Amino acid sequence: MKHIDIKDILTTEDYLQKDVVVCGWIRTSRDSKNMAFLELNDGTSLAHIQIVIDKATINDAENLSNYMKLGSALKVTGTVVPSAVKADGVEINAKEIILLGDCPPEYPLQKKRHTLEYLRTIPHLRLRTNTFNAIFRVRSVLAATIHEYFQSRGYIYVNTPLITGSDCEGAGEMFKVTTIGYSQDYKSAEEYYANDFFGQSAGLSVSGQLEGEVAAMAFGKIYTFGPSFRAENSNTPRHVAEFWHVEPEVAFAELPDVIELAEDMVKHIINAVLEKCPDELQFFDKFFEKGLIEKLQNVANSDFEILDYTKAIEILEKADVEFKYPVSWGLDLQTEHERYITEQVFNKPVFVTNYPKDIKSFYMKQNPDGKTVAATDLLVPGVGEIIGGSEREADLDKLLQAMRDRNMPEENYQDYIDLRRFGSVPHGGFGLGFERILMYCTGTQNIRDAILFPRTVGNIR
Ligand code: 4AD
Ligand code: MG
Repeated sequence: MKHIDIKDILTTEDYLQKDVVVCGWIRTSRDSKNMAFLELNDGTSLAHIQIVIDKATINDAENLSNYMKLGSALKVTGTVVPSAVKADGVEINAKEIILLGDCPPEYPLQKKRHTLEYLRTIPHLRLRTNTFNAIFRVRSVLAATIHEYFQSRGYIYVNTPLITGSDCEGAGEMFKVTTIGYSQDYKSAEEYYANDFFGQSAGLSVSGQLEGEVAAMAFGKIYTFGPSFRAENSNTPRHVAEFWHVEPEVAFAELPDVIELAEDMVKHIINAVLEKCPDELQFFDKFFEKGLIEKLQNVANSDFEILDYTKAIEILEKADVEFKYPVSWGLDLQTEHERYITEQVFNKPVFVTNYPKDIKSFYMKQNPDGKTVAATDLLVPGVGEIIGGSEREADLDKLLQAMRDRNMPEENYQDYIDLRRFGSVPHGGFGLGFERILMYCTGTQNIRDAILFPRTVGNIR
C-alpha cells in the first residue's frame, strides 16, 4: 500500500474512516499503561499527526519502546478517525508499526524547543524542527511566486554565468577562482594569471546584472534567479558569502519604472505568502515577530515611500539620535541610518533614490546635476536593504568616464561597453536579496536561518 502525505490526511476528508499507510519521524511520544501516543511528521505539513497505539492489539507490543524514540523513522498502518480531543482534527488508530530507522538518545533534538543559536550548530538536523519546516516551506513558495510573477508578465528567465572575468559591483568583494596558487616564481600578477585556467583573473560573480543587461538588450525583459557570491568580511545578521539573487533587467525602463516594478513585485510576493502560507505565518507571528501578519497585510495595501537621498540626509541630520557614523552629504548610509529612516520615521518600506555617484557603482545613470546617480535602494523595517537597483548609464562616453574614474580595467568589460555602441537604449533593473525578503516575510532575524547551509566568514560546512 502506498504511503499518504500527512498533510493530505490532516487537511482533506478523503481518508476519514479509511485505512492508510503513513511514514514519518517521531516528534513526540507518550506512554501510558494500556495505550501509547506518538506524533509523527513527514515534512509535508507543519502540523503532526497523532498515532494512537492500543498495546493489546499492536504488533510486537513487547518491544514497543523501540518504536517510541524521538527522531526514529516509522511506517504506520492504521485507520483515520476523528480526534478524541481536537475538534475537526483526525488521528490514526495504529494496526501495525514498522521501524524504518532507529534513533538513539544521542540524537541532538531531544528538547521541545532549542535556541536558534544551538540549531545553527547542527544545520543538517535543524530542518527537522517546526521552525525550519516553516521557513523553508515559505522559501519554496517565494521562489515559485517569483518565477510565476515574471513568467506571467512576459519576462525571459536567463541563467547568467557564476564564474566571471569582470567584477559587477567593483567593490573588490570577489572570490578568486583559480586552479594554481600564486608563488614567487611568477614575475608579475599578469604572468601568474596568464598561466591560470582562464588565462586571466577570474572570480565568482557578485551579480548577474552585466550579463542580464546583455540579455535585456535582446529580449527586452529578463530576470535571473541564482546564487551570487560576496567575499565581504562583514559578520552581520544580514550578510552571507553565498546568497540567492533575483535580478530583473528591463529595456526602455527609467528609474521610476524600476521603482514601480520593485514595489509591485514585493507586494505580489507578500500577497502570495499571505494566501499560501497561513499556518506558517501564524507560527512566525506567535514565535518570531508579534504582529507579523498585520504588518504584511498593511505593506501589501499601502504605498511605499520614495525619498531622495539628499532629503534622507536632511532627516538624519535633524534626528535627535546619536549615530555611530556621523551624518553628512556623501555618506554611504549605514544600517543604523537605514533603520532610523524606515523604522522610526516612516515605519514602512522606503525607496531611497539618487545617491551620490561616488558611493555607487560605475554602471548607474549619471543625473544632470553631475553629483548623483539614478539609483535606488529599498529599505524595509527590521531587515534594512532588500533591493538595490538603478537606471543604467546608456551613454558610451559617460560610462567610459565612470570606469576611468574608478581605475577599472576596460579590457574586461568590452562586451558590456559594446551594448552602448550598438543600439543603446535607456534601461534599468534591480537585485533582490532572496534571503532578505524571506527574512522580512517570516520575521527571521538572522540570515543564517534563511538558507540551508550558510556560508559566512570563517564558517563553511
Ligand atoms: O545592492 P547590490 O549589491 O546590487 C547589485 O548587486 C546590483 N548588481 C543589482 C542589480 O541592479 N541588478 O545587491 C542587491 C541585493 C541587496 O539589496 C541585498 O538584498 C542582496 O542583494 N545582498 C545580499 N544578501 C545577502 N548577503 C549578502 N552578502 C548580500 N549582498 C547583497
Ligand atoms: Mg546595495
